[in-house]
Amino acid sequence: MKKFFIGALALGLLAACNTNEEQIQSQDETVNNAIASRGSCPSEEIRQQALQNNPELMKKYIDIENKTAKYQQDLSLGRVLADGTVEIPVVVNVIYRTSAENISDAQIASQIARLNADYGGTNSDINQIPSEFASVAAGDTKVRFRLDRVTRTSTSVRSWRTNDAMKKTSTKGKDAFQPANYFNIWVVGDMGGVLGYATFPESAGLWNDGVVIAAKYFGNTSYAPYNMGRTATHEVGHYLNLRHIWGDGACATDFVDDTPTQQDKNFGKPTYPQIDVCGGVSRSIMFMNYMDYVDDAAMFMFSAGQKTRMNAVTASTGARAGLRLY
Ligand code: ARG
Ligand code: ZN
Ligand code: CA
Repeated sequence: MKKFFIGALALGLLAACNTNEEQIQSQDETVNNAIASRGSCPSEEIRQQALQNNPELMKKYIDIENKTAKYQQDLSLGRVLADGTVEIPVVVNVIYRTSAENISDAQIASQIARLNADYGGTNSDINQIPSEFASVAAGDTKVRFRLDRVTRTSTSVRSWRTNDAMKKTSTKGKDAFQPANYFNIWVVGDMGGVLGYATFPESAGLWNDGVVIAAKYFGNTSYAPYNMGRTATHEVGHYLNLRHIWGDGACATDFVDDTPTQQDKNFGKPTYPQIDVCGGVSRSIMFMNYMDYVDDAAMFMFSAGQKTRMNAVTASTGARAGLRLY
């Protein structure tokens, strides 16, 4: 609506300018008069003339006004807080066969609380970050989560694979709720050895966009060592464009400079420090990062570089800007 209005207004100005010489001359006079009058600031008049004479500039102007209007609208809707924090609306789709799989509202609440602690940097184990990595810790990532709704779907499916069947009503799961604007999580029963999986931002808004987590690992549970809800912390990292910290290859890259290159994933509860050699360089690795594979109790940080990548996709210009609206 607003976009159309600004576009139309600018087109009107362009048309007025290009149609006749006289009008341009009289606009020149307007500018000169503005310059001549005492104590005036002719910036806007000068600008208007430049915009009318330069379609490229006009395009940039329209773009800036549209983006500014969107930002203002986002703020007024309250989903982007004054400090730039993006509050992501979450839909939890519970797909259950047994009553244990039909997890309680309290268990769902514990998962949302975990996400907000980990993404806000208020997790109680944050003080375990080695001092070596303190300067590159993300702290508050400026991403938060707000439970919008819970859907509950009974199914006859006993065990799931990673083929997205749970994301369609037609295959005994549940269709995503408006995935362009809401972050969908599907909580399912058994997935074998898979704790969870996620789509990346190139899937923004598609029918299968979101995260799947096995019920046993969703929120605070009794299934140690994955009992603290950090499977979701990890999967949401993927949803917001984070790669595994080892780059899914031997000494590969995660496109983040402040996470030291490491040879491979880590499991369990490694003791600090762990030294890897990649390309002949020894480095102390950040195995306590949420994007490694260690136990829930052994992961407690994102890096500043990872925060930047996540903020890029939740920005008003980012692939997941749709999450800012509701
Ligand atoms: N294996 C899963 C995956 O990438 C998640 C691992 C999460 N680790 C954890 N400690 N919860 O996609
Ligand atoms: Zn992963
Ligand atoms: Ca890195």
